[in-house]
Amino acid sequence: MKILITGGAGYIGSQTIIEIIENTDWEVISIDNYSNSSENTYSRIKEITGKDIKYYDVDLRNLSETESVFNENPDIEGIIHFAAFKAVGESVDNPLMYYDNNINSLNNILKCQTKFNIPSLIFSSSCSVYGNVEELPVTENSKLSKSESPYAYTKQIGEVMVDDFIKVNQGLKAISLRYFNPVGSHISGLNGELSSTKPNNLVPFITQTAIGKLDCLTVFGNDYATKDGTCIRDYIHVSDIANAHVLALQYLLTKDVEKPHDIINLGTGVGVTVLEAINAFEKVSNKKLNYKIGNRREGDVAAIYANNEKAQKILKWSPKMNLDDMMLSAWKWEQKLSENNF
Ligand code: NAD
Ligand code: WQD
Repeated sequence: MKILITGGAGYIGSQTIIEIIENTDWEVISIDNYSNSSENTYSRIKEITGKDIKYYDVDLRNLSETESVFNENPDIEGIIHFAAFKAVGESVDNPLMYYDNNINSLNNILKCQTKFNIPSLIFSSSCSVYGNVEELPVTENSKLSKSESPYAYTKQIGEVMVDDFIKVNQGLKAISLRYFNPVGSHISGLNGELSSTKPNNLVPFITQTAIGKLDCLTVFGNDYATKDGTCIRDYIHVSDIANAHVLALQYLLTKDVEKPHDIINLGTGVGVTVLEAINAFEKVSNKKLNYKIGNRREGDVAAIYANNEKAQKILKWSPKMNLDDMMLSAWKWEQKLSENNF
């Protein structure tokens, strides 16, 4: 069976390719335009799995080039659509860049899904669709608030696009997976996040501070109504996220699905504070982290974590990695980057 991964050179896409190669007999092909990655990712995939994969340097906004990949591969049976821009702050500064890329790329993928009759699609959504939440943990039925950024809005729109599209395309199926906070790297430490743009999430900031690329980590506020005053998030190991994609595709391809388009949270269900994350890092790395308490960051919610019962029930998925695994693998990857002068 042949699967197309869009954004396969990126952080989660590459991890998913590794997961597929290691655990299935599927053939994988990848499309990427390296706007936030590079072709070197495929060498790392080969280093870990021993396999070369076929890949295409295509911008998904270009419909004819995207169609040519499907023409060349008429046996694709599933698509996992990761490719998108994902930096929340950048999307606030440059909204049209996000609407242009995230919406048009998905639109073209849906056009190809119907034109080439590809039975199954997995769409990368995000917990950011929930906006400011009123109830915790968040279930898939929790109300979606107004999006806090153009990025989050592209994910809300994306889910609606998939839903409307599947309704009128009988026989085609899709799942939108709402990831919470993916972190960590492949357990070997040989493949992790290497964005072309500056990372702006907590865990890369922690590891970059520990390695000396950054002087000091600022904890954004310690006056929230949480157990230690810092914000709570649901950090989830990227390999667990990758594994859920394999299970989601298997489910779509082999089961009578309850809904032709379903939406599923991917989180551990455990809320972790910023200070707990830092403590876990210090424990597994045996290093003291230079950090200070700063002001709150605009737009941050005090706490958000998932109810993941639906993923357990429908996909038979449960996360295997704990916070220490996340931090240790992230640290191994940062050290590997440093050895290679990144
Ligand atoms: P990433 O930036 O590492 O990977 C995305 C890949 O898509 C990159 O390699 C980029 O070059 C490629 N790409 C972007 N636009 C493209 C286009 N027009 N044509 C072809 N390739 C294109 O991001 P990631 O962390 O792997 O995220 C993957 C998906 O998961 C995204 O849709 C993102 O919004 C979603 N997501 C990520 C997180 C997170 O924290 N990492 C959380 C929730 C959801
Ligand atoms: C985590 C916590 C910060 C940096 C984002 C997107 C979301 C999803 C996941 C894509 C927060 C604190 C951070 C720092 C800190 N991505 N922090 N000092 O904001 O929960 O979610 O990534 O879909 O859409 O919004 O993740 O890693 O930026 O922050 O104290 O230097 O760490 O305040 O509490 P966030 P994050």
